[in-house]
Formats: sequence, C-alpha cells, structure tokens
Amino acid sequence: MLRFYRFIFCATLLYVGSADDAKLNNKKFPKNFLFGASTSAFQIEGAWNLDGKTESTCDRAFSKQPSIVIDGSNATVACDSYHKYKEDVAILRDLGVDHYKFSLAWTRILPTGYANEINEAGVKYYKNLIRELKINQIQPMVVIYHNDLPQSLQDKGGFLSPLFPEWFANYSRVCFELFGDDVSYWLTINEPFEVCATASNSGPFVDGIDTYICALRLLTAHAAAWHVYDKEFRNKQKGKVAMALNGEWMEPASNSTEDINAAETRMQFIWGSFAHPLYYGDWPEIMKTRIAMRSKLEGFNQSRLPELTQEQINYIKGTNDFFAMNHYTTILVKAIEEPEISSPNSTADIGVFTYQRDDWLSSSLSWLKYVPWGMRKLLNWLKDEYFSPNIIITENGWADSTGQLDDDVRENYIKEYLSNTRDAMDEDGVNVMAYSVWSLMDNFEWISGYTAKFGMAYVDFNSPNRTRTRKNSSFYFEKVCKTHCLVEKCED
Ligand code: NOJ
Repeated sequence: MLRFYRFIFCATLLYVGSADDAKLNNKKFPKNFLFGASTSAFQIEGAWNLDGKTESTCDRAFSKQPSIVIDGSNATVACDSYHKYKEDVAILRDLGVDHYKFSLAWTRILPTGYANEINEAGVKYYKNLIRELKINQIQPMVVIYHNDLPQSLQDKGGFLSPLFPEWFANYSRVCFELFGDDVSYWLTINEPFEVCATASNSGPFVDGIDTYICALRLLTAHAAAWHVYDKEFRNKQKGKVAMALNGEWMEPASNSTEDINAAETRMQFIWGSFAHPLYYGDWPEIMKTRIAMRSKLEGFNQSRLPELTQEQINYIKGTNDFFAMNHYTTILVKAIEEPEISSPNSTADIGVFTYQRDDWLSSSLSWLKYVPWGMRKLLNWLKDEYFSPNIIITENGWADSTGQLDDDVRENYIKEYLSNTRDAMDEDGVNVMAYSVWSLMDNFEWISGYTAKFGMAYVDFNSPNRTRTRKNSSFYFEKVCKTHCLVEKCED
C-alpha cells in the first residue's frame, strides 16, 4: 500500500515538472523568430558607486537596509557585470542567442538624474557592452528604466512629480542619441505595474491613490519618450519602442459567470491598466467603474482614478510599437462579495480572490508556479484584446533555491512554455516574434536576495571572481536557439 502511495506521489511530481516530448509542439519556429536572454542593471552590474555612478532608489532601499532582503545580502557587487560583461557576452555567444535584453542604469549615465551632465565612464561601459554584443552578432534589446530611479529625482517626488515624464523623456533622448544607431528594440519602462505597486519602498506613497497617479505618470513618461523617438530618431534609426508589461494569466476558478467575470476584471486591472491606454487611449471601463464606485462610497468627491483628458488620450494612444510582455505564472480567480469600504486599497479596487493550486509545482518563490498552459491562454487574450499585436516575450523563467547545474525543472519549464507559445502561433494565429529567458545567470532577486536563482548559468557569489558556470538548461536552450526546434527532430 505504501508503495502505491509513493508511486502516486512520484507520478504527480513527474507530471508537474517534466515535459513529455511527444506532447511538445514539433514545428520549427520561423527563421526570423528571435531567441534571447535577459537581465537588468541593478541585478547584475554591481559597481554601484564606481566611475561617477550615483545612488539610485535601489541602492538606497536594498543595499543600505539589508534587513529588507531575506538573506541580508545586497547588490553592491552582484554578478560584477560592470567588470565581467565580456564573460556574459561569451555565454550569450555560446548559447547562440539572437538578442540580449539588458537595462541601462540611469545614474550611471546621468549622475544628477537630469540630462545636464553625462558621465562618460558610464556611457563607455554600455558602448563597450553593445560593441561586444555586435561583434558576436547579438542584438541589444535595451530597457531604459528597470526599477533604479535616481535617488535625487525620488527626493523631488519621483513618479508622483508632474515633472517625471519630462525627466524620463530627457533621459531617453540621451539614450537614443548615444546608443540608438545600434538598437532596434527599445523598452522604455520595465513592468510599470510592479513599479507602482512597490513604489512605497522608496518614499511616501498612498496605496489606491498614488498607485493610479503613478500609473498615469509612467504612461505619460513612456509616451513622451516614444514621441521623442518618433520625431527625432525613428527615420534614421528605424527602431521600435514599447513598454514591457507583465502579469499572470488569470484562470477563472470555475465555469460560473461570476468567476469568469472576476478573472476578466483582474486581467483588465493588471494588464489593462497599462495596455488599454496604450492601445485605446483610456483606462479599461471596469477600472473606471469600480474605482469611481468605491471612491464615492469612501467619501471622495471624485474618483481616485485620474480622468484622462482628450489631449492625454491622444498623446498616449498608439505609442506601443510592439507588445512586450513578461510572463511567469498563472493564478486562479474567484468572485467574492464586495470588499468592505474603508481606506483606499488597490487590491480591494479589483475586488476578487486569487489563489494557486497546491498541486502546481512550486519554485523557490511562492508566487511562481509551473503552469505552461497559461502562456497560450494569455497570448490568445492579448491577441483578442489588443488588435493582434506583434508580441515579444521579454521575460519568462524559473527559480530554484540551489542554483544546481542539473536544473531539469528549468529546462522543462522553458520547453513547455515555448511549446505553448508555438501552439499559440501555429494554431491560434498569435503573432509572437521573440522570446527571452529570465535570466542569463543567477542574480540579485530583489527582496529574495540570492536565495532565488533564475539563471541558465550559475554564479558563484562566494568567489570574488563571480565565476559563471553553465547549467544543463542552457545547453537545451542553445539547441533551441540553433535549431529553432523544441524536440529531437522537428517537422519543417
Ligand atoms: C520581473 C523583473 O523584471 C525582474 O527584475 C525579476 O527579477 C524577474 N521578473 C523575476 O522575478
């Protein structure tokens, strides 16, 4: 009997973490499909105060208050990519990727935060990185902002300042000028939803009020950068500019109309709070209705969600040249009674209950479960909602706590998420152009420090050399990059 239970237990583990090759999509990805890997400046570079770089909000929040990081670690050295970028590019070259998604550290380029003073050493670092990539035929996919706001600008109000869009557009102009001849894909702001959801780490921020002001500022800042590119650089540089949005797939907890609507509501709040304005000019209808309704009951004389003027609508609408999305996991969504009215609360504004299934394989991060079919459903939803956009999957990946080289689960995760991507392209007509694994190598995972390892390469954080060693998943991904095929042999 015991043996029987053990069999069931093992079978369940195998089911959730291993890929059955016979069930994988066996059609080749198109020749022009781009495979890549991603990182971000703060999480890998280190050298936080070297060669003229000044303090960012991340340096302030994570490196000066180790207590907010689970393992008490910090990112002052991280992977030391500031000194070891050639080793990073060597791994990318061996993987055979087409592109590398990385971010620029604002305070490495503009130490005052403003565009009045350019730090040559910082510029040189990114020029060298881009040159090294190009020598190896790897396209840079450049993120202008990935969480590390100049502390000087935070001190002047950060995202809540009406000047934020102007600061960001000026910084973006400098980036386009300096690097744009070599960049075809620009990502203005990475995961704006998370940026606003975590902004309270860096200064005073009222949830449910500042959350939406922040969203509007980020949308306006993105649009301002897009307009700068469009007017001043597009003709010559011929690149494309998008925001990198993120979110889960929201699966209704049951077939009931209430749960289906609840899941759709959450999709609209998470994806739609940025994508809807980018594609339609305005907030999703359900966001407008729910926040206005709750604001009124809370005693506000107008909605906590800022109403967009026609001018703002025209300015923001149509400023996403492609749909960049970071996606990792799925959650189940259940309808609930209207949450109690008290002080403003952005979760109560959505007004649903979310959970994940216990039998979904868990990573070392509680939110990240292995649910590859969510990718296909999400891609279809984005296609239907936003006029069949060209989609670039800018991040997708799996974390473990060990950094083990035999990282079968990560390999299977990549395999199955890519297989679902291929199904969506092939059977559902979704236009997916590119896919990047998060991450090239283990790095500093925010409050999880070095306890959550996402890399296709292991980094020895105990060694001053920060030695990189490729994991098994990287050899599988190399095969995919080279053959465009997920299985042993693909149909042509
Ligand atoms: C989203 C973020 O862009 C990145 O900074 C983070 O490390 C990964 N996802 C994994 O959580």
